Amino acid sequence: MALLTDKVAIVTGAGSGMGREEALLLAREGAKVVATDINEAAVQAVVKEIGSAGGEAAYFLHNVASEEDWAEVVENTVQKYGRIDVLVNNAGISLATGLLETTMEQWNKVININLTSVFLGMKHVIPTMQAHSGGSIINISSIAGLTGSSGAGAYTASKGGVRMLSKAAAVDFGKDHIRVNSIHPGFIETPMSSEFVNDERMLQWFLSQTALPRVGQASEVATAVLFLASDLSSYITGVELPVDGGVTAK
Ligand SMILES: NC(=O)c1ccc[n+]([C@@H]2O[C@H](COP(=O)([O-])OP(=O)(O)OC[C@H]3O[C@@H](n4cnc5c(N)ncnc54)[C@H](O)[C@@H]3O)[C@@H](O)[C@H]2O)c1
Repeated sequence: MALLTDKVAIVTGAGSGMGREEALLLAREGAKVVATDINEAAVQAVVKEIGSAGGEAAYFLHNVASEEDWAEVVENTVQKYGRIDVLVNNAGISLATGLLETTMEQWNKVININLTSVFLGMKHVIPTMQAHSGGSIINISSIAGLTGSSGAGAYTASKGGVRMLSKAAAVDFGKDHIRVNSIHPGFIETPMSSEFVNDERMLQWFLSQTALPRVGQASEVATAVLFLASDLSSYITGVELPVDGGVTAK
């Protein structure tokens, strides 16, 4: 039996990388997937792929930093599928810029897309989960949200914020049977990281940080999302789950 039969799941940033794999896997496990992204063509292609495989999915053009967009996505989802059981706040951007070199514009952009988006997503989705029988929220942070990363102050701050915002929401909404957990990917091969993974010197540095001797795949983050989305993790809330090949074990 599939793990998410009849569940409705929103996945943000579903047009690429981990979000794409998460959307495909949740749909394979029976969820009706609402895939959102600012890249309409990409997310449309993912929804088409889900449909061709016999799954059910819809897409919406969605800037996760916009409160107006969130209100629309939630309203359209409830109109189409009647409820929301799973929210995966996955969309994000990276910024490998040192603290002293970071402009206000860059700071605001990273904080808005990586952290304010998670606040907005939970603010707009939780009331519909409360009105039904609860739900599961998975916020994609990073190992940069667990330990200080060099040369990426804004990104690190945004991902650290995601970690603590997840715990705050877990504490407040457990009474409504809403679970909130964060996932902390390490070096995962996606379009976001391809520039680094394809650079031999960077790759060797990554491999010097991991316990397992390889970088991770987006599908390996998706299986962690599936676990936290499903009832397999029914008594787990407020935790941070590294999917990092052992980087933070050192
Ligand atoms: N790749 C890694 O090694 C790695 C490591 C740790 C954490 N992460 C985090 O994982 C998540 C997914 O990253 P990825 O590697 O799959 O990246 P990716 O660049 O492959 O995909 C990110 C997706 O988010 C979308 N997006 C960007 N800005 C958006 C916005 N304002 N509104 C809606 N959608 C937007 C993009 O269009 C894209 O489809 C991000 O939150 C990222 O910070 C990635």
